[in-house]
Amino acid sequence: MEDGIDLVPTMSPSSLTMLPETVFAAPTSLALLDLEAEITALKRDLNAIILAHYYQESDIQDVADFVGDSLELSRRVAETSADVIVFAGVNFMAETAKILNPGKQVLVPDIEAGCSLADGCPPELFREFLDRYPGHAVVSYINTSAAVKAMSHIICTSSNAAKVVASIPADRPIVFAPDRNLGRFVIKQTGRDMVLWPGSCIVHETFSLKKIVQLRERHPNARLIAHPECEEPILRMADFVGSTSALLRDVRENAAQEFIVATESGILHAMHQAVPDKLLIPAPPESNCACNECPHMRRNTLEKVYLAMKNRGPEILLDEEIRLRALRPIERMLALS
Ligand code: 13P
Ligand code: SF4
Repeated sequence: MEDGIDLVPTMSPSSLTMLPETVFAAPTSLALLDLEAEITALKRDLNAIILAHYYQESDIQDVADFVGDSLELSRRVAETSADVIVFAGVNFMAETAKILNPGKQVLVPDIEAGCSLADGCPPELFREFLDRYPGHAVVSYINTSAAVKAMSHIICTSSNAAKVVASIPADRPIVFAPDRNLGRFVIKQTGRDMVLWPGSCIVHETFSLKKIVQLRERHPNARLIAHPECEEPILRMADFVGSTSALLRDVRENAAQEFIVATESGILHAMHQAVPDKLLIPAPPESNCACNECPHMRRNTLEKVYLAMKNRGPEILLDEEIRLRALRPIERMLALS
């Protein structure tokens, strides 16, 4: 029950061989369910809202009440009157929902859905890092754990990072964490020097500059659009850089008919819905892998969304002291944007 998959009982390897076939029928019976209808009914019964990030599988985006980028999702969650929040994204997003809504139950499809940026900035090491920069304002990307947020002055997302940094008094030095690519991009945008934590996203670092150049030769009219977590040479070449929502807006509003999209490929679902007649080409990764799919986001499935709602778990729970300390920098961000 704790991991939310109580239809499949926990079994030791030795007991597995002795169990009758009917025990193994559970996953199959799940496959026979009309998951969308079940989820709709559970939503009503629980007074739940389902929030999904653009990087989620398309069937999850289709059952969600709201799909957005990380800033829009935090705004939306701050306003919800639902009793239960089902957060289909990664854990730092669900934690943010819990920080803003301590009285509500926040459920996640998979409690292991981490993020390379958040995981690459452990709170103990971040504390030691900050101790080397006394007097600095700490601007942390929302892709961090609640404990790192609790050590920050203000939080930002990819869509408001420049605005957040520009709000810090000019004479105050700044530490920016954990994404160094976004940090460098913001330094260029704002002209503010910042100390950068050396983190990066495993997905956005995989795009191949060489293959993108070759693609552009084959599609000379294609507009290259990129998420600011991409590496600097790609951002320098891009015609437009922005958060997932900003990229979606760009394909909708720009007159171009062809786009090369340098971000996690889940965004293509919403883009295809918005502009069915335009050609959208996912930027190719270095090797012939599916590395432009976030392995953390893709842990979530529609089945796990259903099971999380049915089992009322896995649930996000936070230490109250950390929650309160993490709340202030998030509220500062929300007041700004
Ligand atoms: P957005 O701010 O565009 O939602 O991006 C979040 C993210 O995790 C990008 O990898
Ligand atoms: Fe984290 Fe990168 Fe996945 Fe976004 S795409 S959730 S930054 S690992």
